Amino acid sequence: MKIMVIDDEESMRHMLSVILKREGYETAAFADAGQAVAALEASEFDFVLCDIRMPGMDGMRFLKTLQDRGLGQTVIMMSAYGAMDTAIECMKLGAYDYISKPFKADEIILTVKKAEERERLKRENARLKDEAERDYDFRNIITEDRAMLEIIGLVKKVADYATPVLITGESGTGKELVARAIHHAGQRGLGPFVAVNCGAIPPNLLESELFGHVKGAFTDAHRNKTGLFQEADHGTIFLDEIGELPMELQVKLLRTLQEGEIRRVGDVKSARIDARVVAATVKDLKTEIKAGRFREDLYYRLNVIETRLPPLRDRKADIPALAAHFAGKYARRFGKRAKAILPEAMDELVRYPWPGNVRELENVMERAMILEEGGVIRKESLPIRENEPGAAYGGGLSVKKAQEAMERGLITKALAQTGNNKTKAAELLELSMRALLYKIKNYGL
Ligand SMILES: Nc1ncnc2c1ncn2[C@@H]1O[C@H](COP(=O)(O)OP(=O)(O)OP(=O)(O)O)[C@@H](O)[C@H]1O
Ligand SMILES: [Mg+2]
Repeated sequence: MKIMVIDDEESMRHMLSVILKREGYETAAFADAGQAVAALEASEFDFVLCDIRMPGMDGMRFLKTLQDRGLGQTVIMMSAYGAMDTAIECMKLGAYDYISKPFKADEIILTVKKAEERERLKRENARLKDEAERDYDFRNIITEDRAMLEIIGLVKKVADYATPVLITGESGTGKELVARAIHHAGQRGLGPFVAVNCGAIPPNLLESELFGHVKGAFTDAHRNKTGLFQEADHGTIFLDEIGELPMELQVKLLRTLQEGEIRRVGDVKSARIDARVVAATVKDLKTEIKAGRFREDLYYRLNVIETRLPPLRDRKADIPALAAHFAGKYARRFGKRAKAILPEAMDELVRYPWPGNVRELENVMERAMILEEGGVIRKESLPIRENEPGAAYGGGLSVKKAQEAMERGLITKALAQTGNNKTKAAELLELSMRALLYKIKNYGL
């Protein structure tokens, strides 16, 4: 353990250093509390022994400064005989203990040992809490499904490595949930988790968002900008909708993955970066590769670990536990009593095909929890009758999702009828050619 000693008296510093070294502690002594603060900011000390009365920054101001700068050190104050009041003041300011001068070697050692024990307990607690949180994140993923459990087992194993992970699966199957669990389960869990939706940022801005730029790199680059990769340093960057990443950026991402370096837009130098990449997509990347929209080399680089989350309809056995979980979650959130789900309602939940997967189930349970006044959830309170508008699209009441589904259907039909003649299809659909081409591309038809 490394102990910092702060005292303006040379003889005191010397004596403490000798005693502590004899006990096997490493020490660093400071005559000036201001310098000691700087040293604490620069390197780690296990705890601090600090005199109260000193010229310049005294012990009290030292404690206040630590508080202000968020330096949560264990500090033992050394007060002159009779300065009891000040010692108590110090404890109020967050000091851990105090010892009155003059003291014998045994006394100081005893106090230090006590502090050491406390430090050990503090760390042990932090470690246990950390471990509990790790498990907790995977425990958030409710499933009994074999395929899901296999995926969880696999990603748990790689959590501590920097290996990229690609998560595929339909919308609402839990891709982001798994991505976050991977992050929190590993040592990177203490670092940042940065999520980027590659489909939501205009392609021309995406490069500088991801990699940053230097001042003057382009017209609007008025100052240097840190990219999201940099922000995710020592943590995880979650590239959602990776299938939407433009080709040029796919090249750049591949290089980043291979070399562990990024280059800001307009920069001549590269910078080392240590961010774990977790990517997700609803698209079938193999199809995208065939269509020339996704690079095969990037795909293999990302897909070191194959994780395809099964749709909810293929793991119906998970539905009751998930439904109960969400019922409980929203009961707590709305301050309502947790409600039982009647068997007939549960049957309905299990029977329904859930095109919007777990997200749709969550939305349905949230609505049911709002609507039900009584103590149980009945079949009637579930907004999932399939002949209801919107139900077949899995988007709940989303007009956008319903419109998309309808457009997809009509365009597919028109293309089939016209033998893929887009001009004729556009006429049938009463769409401009440009709009049709855009939609075909957008929907990946
Ligand atoms: N197995 C599960 N256990 C508990 N909650 C789950 C599970 N799977 C998904 N959820 C919850 O369902 C919702 C949707 O999950 P998530 O956002 O991870 O899906 P997604 O695959 O990223 O969807 P999209 O492709 O539409 O972005 C979230 O609120 C998530 O917490
Ligand atoms: Mg998502």
